[in-house]
Amino acid sequence: MPSQFDFTVNGRPVSVSVDNDDTPLLHVLRSILKLVGTRFGCGLEQCGCCMVLIDGEPVKSCAKPVWTVASKSVMTVEGLGTPDKPHPLQQAFLDEQAGQCGYCHSGILVSAKALLDRNPSPSRREIAQALDDNLCRCGSHNRILRAVEKAAAQMREGAGR
Ligand code: FES
Ligand code: FES
Repeated sequence: MPSQFDFTVNGRPVSVSVDNDDTPLLHVLRSILKLVGTRFGCGLEQCGCCMVLIDGEPVKSCAKPVWTVASKSVMTVEGLGTPDKPHPLQQAFLDEQAGQCGYCHSGILVSAKALLDRNPSPSRREIAQALDDNLCRCGSHNRILRAVEKAAAQMREGAGR
């Protein structure tokens, strides 16, 4: 018999029915809720491209059973900004051309958001530590670090949300 779980995604209440309580959150986000910004990479909690925020904390969603987010608040990259009104992090990633394929970006953007929410003035070392669980196979690390620094500066100047 299917189980039903209620939680919020990007501020919107959702109610999801699954046959298996251990269905990964990533599957629910992508295949049931059609939020395909969050990516499937390794499926083994190794690469970080499936990262979302759960109650504000970065969590890999590929092996996270959906039952564990019942009554919680999930944020995906779709909750960050829109093409018309990008989040400063998204704008900085564009300005700095921070990626090549971009496959890692949704996970990195939400991890960076969690960092800037708790530390508006991170050092480069603190940014690197916060993104330690997010792999970029294209080797764009330096540009990604620069983009996060740029977004942090802009948010301190009042461009943030
Ligand atoms: S897909 Fe989840 S960590 Fe790689
Ligand atoms: S830009 Fe390609 S994996 Fe990061």
